[in-house]
Amino acid sequence: MLMRFGGSLLCRGAMRHPQIPAKQRLSQLLFLQPKTRTCSTVQNVQSAKSRSVGLWLAGCSGMVAGAVLLGGITRLTESGLSMVNWSLIKEMKPPSNQQEWEEEFSRYQQSPEFQALHSHFTLEDFKRIFYMEWAHRMWGRAIGLAYFIPLAYFVARGKIAKTDYKRHGAFCCLLLAQGGYGWYMVKSGLKKPERDTDMPRVSQYRLAGHLFLAFLLYSGFLWTSMSHLKRDLLFESHKNLKRLRILAHISKAMVFITAMSGAFVAGLDAGLIYNSFPKMGDFWVPPEILDFDPKWKNFFENSTTVQFDHRILGMSTLTIISSTWIMSRFTPLPKRAKLAASCLMAMALFQVHLGITTLKNYVPISTASMHQCGSLVALSLALWLSHELKGIKRVARKIK
Ligand code: HEM
Repeated sequence: MLMRFGGSLLCRGAMRHPQIPAKQRLSQLLFLQPKTRTCSTVQNVQSAKSRSVGLWLAGCSGMVAGAVLLGGITRLTESGLSMVNWSLIKEMKPPSNQQEWEEEFSRYQQSPEFQALHSHFTLEDFKRIFYMEWAHRMWGRAIGLAYFIPLAYFVARGKIAKTDYKRHGAFCCLLLAQGGYGWYMVKSGLKKPERDTDMPRVSQYRLAGHLFLAFLLYSGFLWTSMSHLKRDLLFESHKNLKRLRILAHISKAMVFITAMSGAFVAGLDAGLIYNSFPKMGDFWVPPEILDFDPKWKNFFENSTTVQFDHRILGMSTLTIISSTWIMSRFTPLPKRAKLAASCLMAMALFQVHLGITTLKNYVPISTASMHQCGSLVALSLALWLSHELKGIKRVARKIK
């Protein structure tokens, strides 16, 4: 009889074997090391997980993290609107001679961004911002290749379980959507702003959508790679475990939501107002917070409200993660889960520190991009903690 534990199969005989003392039986189940395997089914379990698939997906998640970093620097250096066309194949080759560069530059000179912000740019200045955006776009293509080619290989070799087909289908859709969406976002910054006083920039809604897709893809790759790479390390349950698991889920969701609200801060350049903390200027709650009509627009279009919300969300995320960490200290857990909870706690503190430093220093490129990457590190640690806790809960349910 086979039993499923956190995506793993164990045989019932391994749990009930009369010759093995109860304590030893439990430890054999809890720590699945090659030496202590109790039946051949366990070997099947291990082969259903593929180290090579896990490493490949971990590499893909690393590449997505790299794209987020590059994208952040591209935005912060105001390079994102330098390529005013999009073509899957043609734009892979950057201009290679003086004439091609001048043509590319003259296309950029027609754009509202050049006219409003960069009219003093020389061809050399243009080349710098062009290469930044080009590298970001090329990196996106490299992720596509790094995912699709090995996927075809692994499917052909039967290394992808049929049950994972839907998940990989979703990854394919997300990757293709992200490519198209990137251009949809850039297009919003190539239009002349409605009011003459507004600076041309990409829509904050589209920027948040682009970051959302990237974070979703990153989480999917990382979670799946952990399922392949991590050795099952199951542990006896404890009454706090259910609550701890819920807290870990909330921590994950809070990091995700706070990061999305950060994209609105970035999209509206809302980090350039109220550069003090904890108060916003002289106020705890600035007076213009609900100035826009209809009221819901304030949460997405009023820079003051968007910054205020991001502060509240950031501090709430820190509070939730602190509660998760405190509860983890009072719950018997495997070392790895304890480590994940402590790393998440430390990262949340560092992330809030980075956010405050970014704000107080009027968004310098270095701290702002570290703050953006910090959100991915925090999300990774929250995912890791959830993954550790997932296995524990399942074995507890079965053993009782
Ligand atoms: C767990 C807590 C936090 C997370 C996960 C988080 C995440 C993010 C993310 C993902 C961005 C978007 C960056 C981009 O797209 O370039 C951002 C922007 C920003 N965040 Fe946070 N943040 C947190 C807390 C805070 C706090 C407490 C503050 C300050 C009080 C803060 C200040 C800022 C500022 C000023 C920006 C705009 C930076 C820019 O224009 O590039 N953040 N945040």
